[in-house]
Amino acid sequence: APDERLPRGAVGVRVIAHRGASAYAPENTLAAADKARDLGIDWVENDVQRTRDGELVVMHDETLARTTDVERVFPDRAPWKVSDFTAEEIAQLDAGSWFSSEYAGEKVPTFSEFLARMTENGQKLLLELKKPELYPGIEREVLKELRDQGWLNYSKRRDLVVQSFNADSVRVVHQQAPRVKTGFLGTPPVSQLRDYARFADQINPRHTTVTREYVDAVHRLRGPQGQRLEVFTWTVDDAATARRLVDMGVDGIISNRPDVVRDAVGGR
Ligand code: G3P
Ligand code: CA
Repeated sequence: APDERLPRGAVGVRVIAHRGASAYAPENTLAAADKARDLGIDWVENDVQRTRDGELVVMHDETLARTTDVERVFPDRAPWKVSDFTAEEIAQLDAGSWFSSEYAGEKVPTFSEFLARMTENGQKLLLELKKPELYPGIEREVLKELRDQGWLNYSKRRDLVVQSFNADSVRVVHQQAPRVKTGFLGTPPVSQLRDYARFADQINPRHTTVTREYVDAVHRLRGPQGQRLEVFTWTVDDAATARRLVDMGVDGIISNRPDVVRDAVGGR
């Protein structure tokens, strides 16, 4: 990958649209991915979970209540867990109206649909396995979809990172697809970073926990594929914080307002 041979300063920090450009369009929808594209943002973050009948869907919360009209459509199905609904039921929901009437009728995308849109838009994907402990075997299913849509090919897999707060799940992804870049979400103690570097190519901490010393400690290590470990941090929506984090040396900034961050730090 040509990018990795250039000094980091030459290409700038990567800017990742969190759940899509979710300050401007309903999170984790195709509209939010398109909004990021329209803003000129290459990278999109999303969250993947699984329905009762085994379909992978893009949704952040463990329940459908906050970001859809599920309480109105299925009033008797509290607490409206993603895993209690079929794909067909979820397809009936409106995932846009809660955000604004402009997005009425926006759907909860299946992972398959979301990935196809990433391909079509020429975007890069920071895929989060959300609560994978609730969905045994989800790593293999996600990897199968990625493979089926060509994302594990040599030319495409550099546009992909699979991350999770669940270290066991990240390890499983690495074992099942050793060439796929992985990220661990969190801030492990410096003394433990070496263990994470056996299966994670990135350490992705909450921005309030990042220091220059921490970034340096991560950068001193090489990941499972021999490349310098990277730091993508979240979730940063203001220019001053973004600049401070770039000064500390982070490689990526995950933002609901990726245009603000891009304009502040000159990334892409
Ligand atoms: O990509 C990092 C960030 O999304 C992790 O937090 O809760 O927004 O999934 P959360
Ligand atoms: Ca996430």
